[in-house]
Amino acid sequence: SSAKQPYRTGYHFQPPKNWINDPNGVMVYKGVFHLFYQYNPKGAEWGNIVWAHSTSKDLVNWTPHEPDIYPSQPSDIKGCWSGSATILHGGKPVILYTGIEPHQREVQNLAIPKNLSDPYLREWVKSDNNPLMQPTAQNHINATRDYSSSTKSKDFVNWFQSKTPLHSANNTGIWECPDFYPVPIKGESGVDTSLHGPSVKHVLKVSLDDTKLDLYTIGSYNNVKDIYRPDDGSVEGDLGLRYDNGKYYASKNFFDSVEKRRILMDWNNESSKQVDDIKKGWSGIHAIPRKVCLAENGKQLVQWPIAEIQKLRANHVSLANKLLEGGSVIEVSGVTAAQADVEVSFETKDFDKAERPSRSSLNENTDKATYGAFLDVDIQQQKLSLRSLIDHSIVESFGGGGKVCITSRVYPTLAINKAAHLYAFNNGTQSIRLKI
Ligand code: FRU
Repeated sequence: SSAKQPYRTGYHFQPPKNWINDPNGVMVYKGVFHLFYQYNPKGAEWGNIVWAHSTSKDLVNWTPHEPDIYPSQPSDIKGCWSGSATILHGGKPVILYTGIEPHQREVQNLAIPKNLSDPYLREWVKSDNNPLMQPTAQNHINATRDYSSSTKSKDFVNWFQSKTPLHSANNTGIWECPDFYPVPIKGESGVDTSLHGPSVKHVLKVSLDDTKLDLYTIGSYNNVKDIYRPDDGSVEGDLGLRYDNGKYYASKNFFDSVEKRRILMDWNNESSKQVDDIKKGWSGIHAIPRKVCLAENGKQLVQWPIAEIQKLRANHVSLANKLLEGGSVIEVSGVTAAQADVEVSFETKDFDKAERPSRSSLNENTDKATYGAFLDVDIQQQKLSLRSLIDHSIVESFGGGGKVCITSRVYPTLAINKAAHLYAFNNGTQSIRLKI
């Protein structure tokens, strides 16, 4: 019940119990969305990893299936770790996943659907040729994982290693869950993953194990030479920009060929201590899927919650055109603040007297990091806008129409369920007008 489980989400993806991490093999097949994910069938901490499986018609409501890929052969007996699904030319899906061998060696395995006429793809058959790929250097045996979609094999069974890496950087630790995909230079729609040429830019994302950050660059891909070169403007640190300035990791995107959009999914770890996770019986959720496209300036991505999530809206409350005087607080009543979709935009001509909020929690075990980000807006021309999806223990915020995203996990001890309230407040000295 929600009284006993105040931190379980209402509209985010999470199984009834146990540990989850990375989304795997996300795809649409015969009009059905598939999400596989890293799952521990035995407990609320990481271990015994299998590919659990859920399907959906709208990316919001999910139906669970039995785990589809679990340890069963020497090439995966110690775990079925992350990988991805590829839709081959002709529409046939295949999965490549990381298998852990008896001595913890990481290898790549292939699985194919048993019955292509089943839109739910409930049964998968592992290839007799597994493992298809193995570490080529002794010091890489525990760092050769998380295969990402490609069509750089003629038959998907025989693979050869490229002479040069697609991209590299020194002293950055293990790159987990790489993602490589095209985004059109113009417009908001997505394109098939194999598309290349002058109408698209390419995005390369890596998940840094050392710092638990998902970083991306935007650049050009030369498919003849198989070389990717990041654009100068898109590289901030060594490895690029952050998808999200809060907690957002091990993301995976896919092309939704039905709605012609590119969708990003991820894993949001808890910010609580493991003892608390074991007590509540679960750990990890997935953020609301986001549509991604290139910003108009071509230098960064823009992310926005998929439109389907708006179907869940009820009890619409508006404070449009209210003047929020300096130092004032207005309660937004008539909503369940523990679960809300909040859109706000402000009109102001000057931010000199603005103030940043601070965060606290009564639970000493919680990671209380405050997240922040810079948003480039011309306040003389544009409104300042923010959208936040609140769902018990997660808040996902999108500034400037998705140019800046911040996701955080929260564990209120008092503001639970009906005791949670939503306010518009102005801690500055100058008045601000609410536009939505
Ligand atoms: C990322 C990751 C992957 C690995 C999987 C194991 O969170 O560590 O690199 O394949 O999780 O569950």
